[in-house]
Amino acid sequence: MNAHSGKTAIVTGASTGIGRATAEALAKAGFRVFGTSRRAVEDEPRGVAMLTCDVTDDAAVLAIVSTVLSRTGRIDLLVNNAGIGLLGGAEESSISQIQALFDVNLFGVIRLTNAVLPLMRQRGQGRIVNISSVLGLIPAPYSAHYAATKHALEGYSESLDHETRAFNVRIALVEPAYTRSAFEQNTLAADSTLKDYEDARARARAVMKEATAIGDTPESVAAAVLLAATDEHPRRRYPAGKMARQVSVLRRLVPAKAFDKSLRKQMRLPV
Ligand SMILES: NC(=O)c1ccc[n+]([C@@H]2O[C@H](COP(=O)([O-])OP(=O)(O)OC[C@H]3O[C@@H](n4cnc5c(N)ncnc54)[C@H](OP(=O)(O)O)[C@@H]3O)[C@@H](O)[C@H]2O)c1
Repeated sequence: MNAHSGKTAIVTGASTGIGRATAEALAKAGFRVFGTSRRAVEDEPRGVAMLTCDVTDDAAVLAIVSTVLSRTGRIDLLVNNAGIGLLGGAEESSISQIQALFDVNLFGVIRLTNAVLPLMRQRGQGRIVNISSVLGLIPAPYSAHYAATKHALEGYSESLDHETRAFNVRIALVEPAYTRSAFEQNTLAADSTLKDYEDARARARAVMKEATAIGDTPESVAAAVLLAATDEHPRRRYPAGKMARQVSVLRRLVPAKAFDKSLRKQMRLPV
């Protein structure tokens, strides 16, 4: 008998990358895991039941929560992982493109959370782990809207945790740095490009591509998610991997001017 057997978990965006590795790690740890993605997957993650659900669709979100409940009678853990990137100058995206990004990365999280919270509150038990990013902590030139979704997610999660603690429901954030998944290929290009940003945007794309190729494995991020999901006394934040831990410490300790200079150098912007 495993410490977590009998517990039910939902992981959004479990078809690939971090979500897939997380769903498999939770299943291995004893959870009964339901993974979601927009498209049905042929090679399901090991030990995971996959359901189709677009996190931007209210009805689809309610439907999968009801399916999981009818099959298991409980939801102990929600991992809000589904997310998408957007690369380009902040001025280069239409409002509708930015709204669509927020609909996945922030409102998708809120939709799922609102669907499971009543059950967790009534049972007096539950954990929600939100996959943020180091870009929820630091600026991200040429990914400003993506960074805005993750900064918003950080503020939402930390605030919510104060509210739900009274019901023994805790919210934790996992903050990966560059991770070797399909994220970079799936990152959207800005829909209203301007010539003035062309070079800097191309450099930002190159930085992202190179850093992702040597980034952390999805499995190492999944280990941080497993810890956040099962820690007896959960922390608000779990930086995942060496780079994320370094960034999180440097952001707090390095003087703003020095941090600014180092970030511009890293992003190949004139210092
Ligand atoms: N990779 C990195 O470098 C990195 C770094 C920091 C944070 N993160 C965060 O980690 C999370 C997972 O990213 P990843 O790296 O694993 O990327 P990924 O390989 O592109 O996986 C994204 C997952 O989200 C799902 N998804 C996308 N849009 C969706 C929607 N509207 N509704 C439901 N599911 C949707 C995708 O499945 P379908 O396409 O089948 O729906 C897929 O399963 C994201 O929140 C991302 O922001 C990633």
